[in-house]
Amino acid sequence: MGLELHHTPVMVPEVLEGLAVQPGGRYIDATLGEGGHTEAILRASFPGGQVLGLDADPEAVSVAGERLSEYGDRVLYANTNFRTVRATALTFDFVPVHGVLMDLGLSSLQLDAESRGFSFRRPDPLDMRFSLDQRLTAADIVNTYSQSELADVIFQLGEERAARRIASAIVHHRPISTSSELAGIVAGASGRSRSKIHPATKTFQALRIAVNDELAALQTALEQTVSLLGHGGRLCVISYHSLEDRIVKTFMRRESSDCVCPPSTPVCHCNHRPTLRQISRKVTKPSDSEVESNRRSRSARLRVAERI
Ligand SMILES: C[S@@+](CC[C@H](N)C(=O)[O-])C[C@H]1O[C@@H](n2cnc3c(N)ncnc32)[C@H](O)[C@@H]1O
Repeated sequence: MGLELHHTPVMVPEVLEGLAVQPGGRYIDATLGEGGHTEAILRASFPGGQVLGLDADPEAVSVAGERLSEYGDRVLYANTNFRTVRATALTFDFVPVHGVLMDLGLSSLQLDAESRGFSFRRPDPLDMRFSLDQRLTAADIVNTYSQSELADVIFQLGEERAARRIASAIVHHRPISTSSELAGIVAGASGRSRSKIHPATKTFQALRIAVNDELAALQTALEQTVSLLGHGGRLCVISYHSLEDRIVKTFMRRESSDCVCPPSTPVCHCNHRPTLRQISRKVTKPSDSEVESNRRSRSARLRVAERI
């Protein structure tokens, strides 16, 4: 029996246009997931197009490998964190490329997996690691951080206004062993029972970002991608929350500007040379019909830049 594929890739036409996919082109999908975007790129780059797909999660690589088997050696796989995107591309002799895609966050496969602890709807162990090679788990943070460290994580990485109350409730109920148990405690403390989103959403986001050190990994990978793109190569990044989007926006703005001196500097002395051109200063959002058919796409924001 084949594996069930249930992650619907977001903004596929916008991504193909953003990457300016062409026959025979070479692309890096730094967040392979279940291979939905990679498959669209392989189709649009026929004949001869190739994709190097990276994912930190070995299960994602294996599911994508099965899904994409018909494309043979047009797809290369690397089970690695995208922090190593440059070294990985060099190892595969896959430089320069026509485009790099990053579709950040979680796939439905991970959200639905019972052993991972990403979902607050089931009593799963509080894990949240993309890869079992990582040491820190969500349970470590929840059960060992001090109350003020917990409040900082939840406030800074979840942008949760009730962070202090939530941290206090967590400390009061420790040890906490499952995701649904944690979700119940957070819901009770957040005072947000009538909100449209689950009251534990922001706390879970914060824990996941902390466990996987996601913001630092994103910054590192963005800096590396520039050197992988050939002239006119495209960088497309889809983010799902404002912390990620801010990093992408700031990076693209900086890399595309002539001067990165602090605003107070009277005369430019940075000698900064732009490496990117922003295709559009505005983010691209999914269409209403996409949001209607795929709720997960509602928070997706796509930014595109071109190597100059
Ligand atoms: C939203 S999903 C990608 C879905 C994919 N575009 C598709 O169409 O199936 C994000 C994927 O990125 C992976 N990921 C997140 N952060 C990563 C990182 N720092 N390094 C490598 N993979 C990462 C996750 O494991 C997950 O599989």
